[in-house]
Amino acid sequence: MNGSVLFAWEKRKTVAIVRICIVRPCGWYTIGTPKKLSMPDHQIQTATAADLDALEELERLGFPLDQYSKERLKYLLSQANASSYKIEEDGKVSAYAMVLWRKGSRAGHLYSIVTHPEAQGRGLGSALLDALEAEAKERGCDRIRLEVRADNDTAIAFYLRRGYVRVKELPGFYTDDAPGVRMVKRF
Ligand SMILES: CC(C)(COP(=O)(O)OP(=O)(O)OC[C@H]1O[C@@H](n2cnc3c(N)ncnc32)[C@H](O)[C@@H]1OP(=O)(O)O)[C@@H](O)C(=O)NCCC(=O)NCCS
Repeated sequence: MNGSVLFAWEKRKTVAIVRICIVRPCGWYTIGTPKKLSMPDHQIQTATAADLDALEELERLGFPLDQYSKERLKYLLSQANASSYKIEEDGKVSAYAMVLWRKGSRAGHLYSIVTHPEAQGRGLGSALLDALEAEAKERGCDRIRLEVRADNDTAIAFYLRRGYVRVKELPGFYTDDAPGVRMVKRF
């Protein structure tokens, strides 16, 4: 995507109405039908190389092992076949996600998603998933796939509640030989 992805949340009484908007050089337009959500305001922006230190820190906090290095993140942030999103709170990056797209493939690959431990459970991860799924649909993808450690109960429950299903067990998938699980959400 060429522009930033922004979610504009408008609170009405006790529920919030979300409109999915894309910022492009020509301006704003709505690509999603407004739907009811009860979450705080989260403005999603495109993460860039300027966010490298913040993303590296989130990787370190989010993953005890197998976190992506600064060099890897720097490379991916500069690639056209990757989309990176962030949510800032008080001027700091509280959460980020990165998706890889492959030419000729209708699957987006959720490469990483992390919310700062102190910001978890407040809807940031969900907002990032909504944004990347919206972009996947806009790109003509019919699914998002991801791999997660089999012992990462929090993340697996998070994905299951958001429509992802387990499709494959991956023995020895991680560098410490821990098993992984492949999960997919079809649109
Ligand atoms: C998975 C993760 C990205 C979710 O982000 P988040 O901002 O907490 O997500 P949300 O607030 O939108 O939703 C979190 C859900 O899990 C629960 N949850 C997530 N983390 C939690 C925590 N630390 N404590 C309690 N509940 C938690 C919330 O109650 C919420 O429940 P719901 O599904 O019934 O709504 C986050 O837990 C994280 O960064 N984990 C470490 C990195 C990681 O494992 N990433 C995934 C690798 S594949």
